[in-house]
Amino acid sequence: MAIERTLSIIKPDAVAKNVIGQIVSRFENAGLKIAAAKLVQLSRAEAEGFYAVHAARPFFNDLVNFMISGPVFVQVLEGEGAILKNRELMGATDPKKAEAGTIRADFAESIDANAVHGSDAPETAAVEIAYFFPTLNVYAR
Ligand code: PPS
Repeated sequence: MAIERTLSIIKPDAVAKNVIGQIVSRFENAGLKIAAAKLVQLSRAEAEGFYAVHAARPFFNDLVNFMISGPVFVQVLEGEGAILKNRELMGATDPKKAEAGTIRADFAESIDANAVHGSDAPETAAVEIAYFFPTLNVYAR
């Protein structure tokens, strides 16, 4: 399987719970490496830009308000099949439906405060990595 890069965000609910380290450990234990990382407070414009693809969805404003409610930990994960591996570690969007042992099952409260974001495909990973880390190579070497 190819070495990939993917964007991961630890969302404000998980940052507030002080579980950044526990979540990062799950990525590391699964063999993913951190290629870049930063703790940032997103502006409304930055959050709206990141989620622009969801602008027409009914929950868009709630999602943006949540994502600017506190700092987020944004990172680029790298490894074999990193995009799918990250999605598997995260679990389903709705923590009530997430498999036991996944990040969302263990740390998320609800579908709107669901602890983590992860790119869902190679194309979105490239766009999302460039959005937060414009000088970083979006593909693994
Ligand atoms: S996904 O993971 O992209 O397939 O999920 P999707 O259902 O398309 O949701 C897109 C993002 O919107 C978030 N979401 C919500 N936010 C607030 N309220 C409600 N009801 C809601 N439903 C979905 C979901 O967590 C996704 O955010 P990210 O950051 O991509 O995980």
